[in-house]
Amino acid sequence: MLRTQAARLICNSRVVTAKRTFALAARSINNGAMGNAAQSVAAKKFLTPMIATRGLKQINFGGTVETVYERADWPKEKLLNYFKNDTFALIGYGSQGYGQGLNLRDNGLNVIIGVRKNGASWKAAVEDGWVPGENLFEVEEAIKKGNYVMNLLSDAAQSETWNTVKSLLTKDKTLYFSHGFSPVFKDLTHVEPPKDIDVILVAPKGSGRTVRSLFKEGRGINSSYAVWNDVSGKANEKAQALAVAIGSGYVYKTTFEREVTSDLYGERGCLMGGIHGMFLAQYEVLRENGHSPSEAFNETVEEATQSLYPLIGKYGMDYMYDACSTTARRGALDWYPIFKDALKPVFEDLYESTKNGSETKRSLEFNSQPDYREKLEGELQTIRNMEIWKVGKEVRKLRPENN
Ligand SMILES: NC(=O)c1ccc[n+]([C@@H]2O[C@H](COP(=O)([O-])OP(=O)(O)OC[C@H]3O[C@@H](n4cnc5c(N)ncnc54)[C@H](OP(=O)(O)O)[C@@H]3O)[C@@H](O)[C@H]2O)c1
Repeated sequence: MLRTQAARLICNSRVVTAKRTFALAARSINNGAMGNAAQSVAAKKFLTPMIATRGLKQINFGGTVETVYERADWPKEKLLNYFKNDTFALIGYGSQGYGQGLNLRDNGLNVIIGVRKNGASWKAAVEDGWVPGENLFEVEEAIKKGNYVMNLLSDAAQSETWNTVKSLLTKDKTLYFSHGFSPVFKDLTHVEPPKDIDVILVAPKGSGRTVRSLFKEGRGINSSYAVWNDVSGKANEKAQALAVAIGSGYVYKTTFEREVTSDLYGERGCLMGGIHGMFLAQYEVLRENGHSPSEAFNETVEEATQSLYPLIGKYGMDYMYDACSTTARRGALDWYPIFKDALKPVFEDLYESTKNGSETKRSLEFNSQPDYREKLEGELQTIRNMEIWKVGKEVRKLRPENN
């Protein structure tokens, strides 16, 4: 079975040999099964972090000790007891509203949704079983009824609606965000939370769809949490408990400032913008030098996403290097510092642009335009029409699982 699993990991890759990957996978998954003391030690290297994290709060991340909270700290009975007198008014039912709202409901907590009447979100909420007048209301009414106000409107809408929301934030309420965007850049967003209520944040590290699907599988998404105001002295505890209630597994402590900066920076960099730019640059050079579209795509995107990046995700960068041919390994070891040095100034500019609010300003200005959806669709259409992504559509049809 291990052999099959390992072979599947590598079947599309020219640079990864099945034999080598099998040996590595066996070492990491089946500690000691190969009966060799050296391999057993190597296997422990892979297994230790998983064992060490269970039930422990202090975790050594490459030399820096951080506190991590986990689901096991808040079993369902404890959550139900902790929040027994609370009503969660979750406003906005987009990606996060959907995931967090349904998870709270399935956890047995008293949650109501607040959205614009008869908008797309209202209709989606009704389809998901929220009942108008019972647990589905317009935004203002929901806020009045709840003592936790979970602001899951889009970031631009949080700014647009702030005057109304703020006027309803009485002293008994706790204000919750899933992004530091609005309060951190208050000079631009005008979202300045009242000083006399607790203000907390839980930011799932993934889309609301993933928050929901992991919860349904009995697992939990990783999230970060932060406290902006701690008036009650219990804001940290509330945030940790609510993080688990919305479906988090492990919860990392951060600040509003660090959450928003790292998030905006990351999505513009390696997570989305940076990786897209790098794919395009590599593909274009191959095409300009006479390589066919399929060859350029396979060597740029397909092998990366189907073979090598999953190895990085599952076992680490060193493992991926170790699983590749000596030729591939030598070249990558020589070229990664060159790429790093060339790209670092770009990342420094990006960080500055994030930190000084330029990215927030741009996002607010663009996403507040009445025709922003049409404009966005136009830009996505440009991407769809690029040769590289049209080629991708065809290459995906030829994957082994589609044969
Ligand atoms: N999406 C993610 O992957 C993700 C991950 C982590 C954190 N977050 C954060 O979670 C929060 C919610 O994000 P999201 O992606 O779930 O948002 P979204 O999908 O963009 O949700 C938009 C919601 O805002 C409502 N809305 C938009 N404009 C409005 C207005 N002028 N007045 C009233 N309602 C309005 C929409 O209602 P209608 O249908 O009526 O327009 C909809 O319910 C944000 O702070 C975001 O940064 C998101």
